Amino acid sequence: MAEQHFDVVIIGGGPAGYGAALYGASAGLKVALAENDKVGGTCLHRGCIPAKELLETAAIVRTIQHAGDFGVEVEGKAVDWGRTLERKQEVIDRLAGGVTQLLKGRKVDVFDATASLGPDHSVTLASSSGETAVISGDAIILASGSRPRTIPGFEPDGVRVVTSDEFFHIPQVPMNAVVIGGGAIGCEFASTLADLGSSVTILEALPKILPGCDQDVARTVQQSFKRRGIEVRTGVSVTGHTPGSTGTTVHLDGGESLETNLVVVSVGRVPNTDGLLLPGTAVGISERGHIEVDEGYHTAEPSVWAIGDVIDTPQLAHVGFAEAIVVIKDILGENPAPVDNSRVPWAIYCHPEVAFAGHSEASAKEAGIDVVTSKHRFSGNSRAMILGQTEGLVKVIARKNDDGTAGQVLGVHMVGPWVTEQLSGGYLAVNWEATVDEVAAFIQPHPSLTELFGETMLSMTGRSLHG
Ligand code: NAI
Repeated sequence: MAEQHFDVVIIGGGPAGYGAALYGASAGLKVALAENDKVGGTCLHRGCIPAKELLETAAIVRTIQHAGDFGVEVEGKAVDWGRTLERKQEVIDRLAGGVTQLLKGRKVDVFDATASLGPDHSVTLASSSGETAVISGDAIILASGSRPRTIPGFEPDGVRVVTSDEFFHIPQVPMNAVVIGGGAIGCEFASTLADLGSSVTILEALPKILPGCDQDVARTVQQSFKRRGIEVRTGVSVTGHTPGSTGTTVHLDGGESLETNLVVVSVGRVPNTDGLLLPGTAVGISERGHIEVDEGYHTAEPSVWAIGDVIDTPQLAHVGFAEAIVVIKDILGENPAPVDNSRVPWAIYCHPEVAFAGHSEASAKEAGIDVVTSKHRFSGNSRAMILGQTEGLVKVIARKNDDGTAGQVLGVHMVGPWVTEQLSGGYLAVNWEATVDEVAAFIQPHPSLTELFGETMLSMTGRSLHG
């Protein structure tokens, strides 16, 4: 017999889970949220937020390095890593406090416990002190998130081998580092470490880094990394490592070895489902370990939904928020449209930054769509010149009209200064299914970085100003 009954019980307090709690409570639902670590989840405590915070320290180091170009001489440029970590924690703590206050203000019951779903919408809560309780809900949302994938032979020890779980606590910036996996996390960590003075090598199994990105974007990042001394080795596999006194030796397939102070493993993430489901529910788990859901995030058990990294959708905090809103609207009977995963915004905060939404040139062609593309570089953009950051480009992929002109905007891909803050225009164009002509008529401020987006669109109409 359940001790308390709620409209909605949510398991997992990361962006998807706490997003559902806040949005549901704001709609008047009585919500319970179970979290066995800290509310805020991976994103806030060991993911998006600390990664971007450390990247900001890296950006400041770069700014200081180039201060002389602006006639500003700076002395005493050493990084105080202890202070860097402290500031990162201050940002996390303030945000965590904010989320906790919001949940409290909306009267969400937060349970500090490990939750498991049983039959008939019962949720068993086990606290770390050994107490158990059972609650229930008319609706259940599973949002238990994911954890770093590891590779056999590279189990993290927090000293020589780390994943993103341990990276944010390393005691010092290593002299050199090997980053295994050149995806979003690997490129962000490699970029941070290189700017802070490490000598970094990325080992990527595939033929290119940032495999999900348009090839012009990935190439721009790779060239920039090379200029900054980051060695990118693609098509490489690792077989193991041999720890030494100050680091370890990484062994590559083919016999080569690399000595390093730190190995960062960033080879993807796996869903958290261990202990989540008690016998007696119809919730299914796929071969790859995700909770199986339909387009509207329903599991096979009636009135049980799953959202966030535990399902097989883009592993992005903002996608978790969006899924949370869809599910709460569904619970409220509002018949929401599901998230279109092919058009969500992606943002990778390495230097140079990457942001995109919609088809890449390759994915559009693979889908059999006839396209027109255009790319323009920040090297001619006035604001980029003023900033001293002219690396990068904007690339637009549009459907080719029957007369050969550019029609509907299918994809917008950016790499360069502050592009994560510039993507919104491109995201809207793609998702509103706007045409190039329509977007080209919108005005961008001058001088601004977003002018490059406007110029790229304008040039696709067959006429242009600067582009
Ligand atoms: P990922 O899937 O983006 O990249 C992993 C990379 O590791 C791939 O390029 C893969 O080919 C490579 N790899 C796999 N096994 C390997 C091996 N044994 N040796 C060498 N390379 C190997 O995963 P990542 O970077 O760990 O990120 C996890 C998730 O978090 C992703 O879905 C990512 O999009 C998301 N994320 C998003 C961020 C953002 O939007 N800013 C930031 C960080 C993560």
